Amino acid sequence: MCGIVGVVGSRNATDILIQGLQKLEYRGYDSAGIFVTDKNKNSVLVKAVGRISALQEKIDIEVNGTSGIGHTRWATHGKPSKINAHPHVSANSRFVLVHNGVIENFKELKERYLTDDKLVSKTDTEIAVHLIGKLIEEGNLSVVEGFRKALKLLEGSFAFALMDRKDSEIIYVAKNKSPLLIGLGNGYNMICSDAMAMIRETNRFLELYDEEMVIVKRDSVKIMDANGTVVKRKPYIAKLDLSDIGKGAYPYYMLKEIDEQPAVMRKIMQKYIANTNPHQMKVEQEILEAVVKADRIYVIAAGTSSHAGWAAKAFFEQLTKTPVEICLASEFGYNTPLLSKKPLFIYISQSGETADSRQVLVKMKKLGYKALTITNVPGSTLSREADYTLLLYAGSEIAVASTKAYTAQIAVMAVLAKAVGEYIGNSVARSFNLLQELSLVASAIEALLTEKKQIEQKVYKHLQNTRNAFYIGRGADYYASMEAALKLKEISYIQCEGFAAGELKHGTIALIEERTPVQALISNKEIASHTRGNVMEVVSRGAKVLTIVSQDCAQKEDDIVVQIVHPFLTCITMVVPTQLVAYYATLQRKLDVDKPRNLAKSVTVE
Ligand code: M6R
Repeated sequence: MCGIVGVVGSRNATDILIQGLQKLEYRGYDSAGIFVTDKNKNSVLVKAVGRISALQEKIDIEVNGTSGIGHTRWATHGKPSKINAHPHVSANSRFVLVHNGVIENFKELKERYLTDDKLVSKTDTEIAVHLIGKLIEEGNLSVVEGFRKALKLLEGSFAFALMDRKDSEIIYVAKNKSPLLIGLGNGYNMICSDAMAMIRETNRFLELYDEEMVIVKRDSVKIMDANGTVVKRKPYIAKLDLSDIGKGAYPYYMLKEIDEQPAVMRKIMQKYIANTNPHQMKVEQEILEAVVKADRIYVIAAGTSSHAGWAAKAFFEQLTKTPVEICLASEFGYNTPLLSKKPLFIYISQSGETADSRQVLVKMKKLGYKALTITNVPGSTLSREADYTLLLYAGSEIAVASTKAYTAQIAVMAVLAKAVGEYIGNSVARSFNLLQELSLVASAIEALLTEKKQIEQKVYKHLQNTRNAFYIGRGADYYASMEAALKLKEISYIQCEGFAAGELKHGTIALIEERTPVQALISNKEIASHTRGNVMEVVSRGAKVLTIVSQDCAQKEDDIVVQIVHPFLTCITMVVPTQLVAYYATLQRKLDVDKPRNLAKSVTVE
């Protein structure tokens, strides 16, 4: 949430900042701003409400400094407005600050230190920069001393980039919980929330850890720990391909990412299944042992990633013979259940940056529990801080609505479960040919993707003008319904619930009225007749129904038919049509598919 960029010492500062912010727009897009300055201390601060394009329109060609910082915002304190947009400035405007995170004790700080200050915004960030300015000027401290003193008073999460108008050739950086990287250029250096933002300029990056402070100059980068001791760190090379983050001929990233799913399934097979033996998974022995030693697996995740956990639970338990609990990250850390004696924690996260999941990881690591992260982003915080990582290999996912990462998460959980099952000699695992089953999944998705036109027509008719809808299903289809409902509501703003089909009659059926749209998922022959019964119940009360069914359950009147895949993997294939349902319902409403309101791709605040 919120994206930060900065550069020192380049002739092209404005361009670097704007290009970087465009790449970070997925982290927040309600307002943006930049501060640019040159060697002669001429400077300009520009802010705009809305997207980076709105900021760009306000930037004069005259803005051609050599250093600067920029920010794209996802509002926490104070509504999206020009005044609340970053950068913020200290009382006499000497210091300029951008911030990602939340200062939890901002009210106390204001009451204790800033009673006489005139604050113009509603943000916690303005309080932070006023505090920094006050400590430096009243205490006659150096910027580093004053900044450090302020950091000791601040509680919460932050990635800060601070500039001093008196010395335009330095960016002061501090980090706690929120991500931030240093990019190393030739004759200039940069900072960014995500390597993607600066990959056009460099592929050499320095990681930062919590409580570190950094002084970034055009020809040097000095990292210090919380005590001021200088830390030596080698850069790493980010393996990112710029073409990977383009949209190509697609109107929206979401459609591109839906289409990429068969290729992602094949990539996972290639990365994780041995060429010579389809039953041999390429998963490190250490990871297998960690799972085998555990008496219970706790899957910690949020949103779509938690739905992937639910989808994987049944097969994971059957293949590994270990019970699995799926826990919402935002609840777990503050409402921790009684843990088993030998737990293993699996963190599922597309971005690897979700603050809710990270706070659990930090707490559980302190208790000595091992962590395995399943993520799409190598080098992400959750990956770095876990004992083990399994990558999704899904390629960058840019649309806020997660699609290919969800299906990849289930596939990678299947790889892990199969690997553990083989390791412990479980006969169910031995007879589960994952290579073959994932190939069938890839083909089933491909077949669905050829039917986009028909699906589009059906969706337009089924969801036209509605403000609410339901997905229903049983077993695996119930978990798929939860994911399908989240996808529909987050981008089309249709209020939608994913419901256990049999549970509807226990209260929620009261909401069904004439023409309420209900989408029924039916992929299991054994229980299909029960779900069909639930469909009849809603039809009798006026609902209009769209059915998404597996071929072996299909009837003449069904709307979307999905090829048969292994019952362990139906949560992958059954969700693909629902991704298209969400996509087309959103197009019909003429909304921005990739950047829904109030959301951001990477949720780095708790
Ligand atoms: O990066 P993560 O997988 O940890 O993100 C978790 C959720 O914020 C994310 O899945 C969210 O629910 C998606 N935008 C839904 O499409």
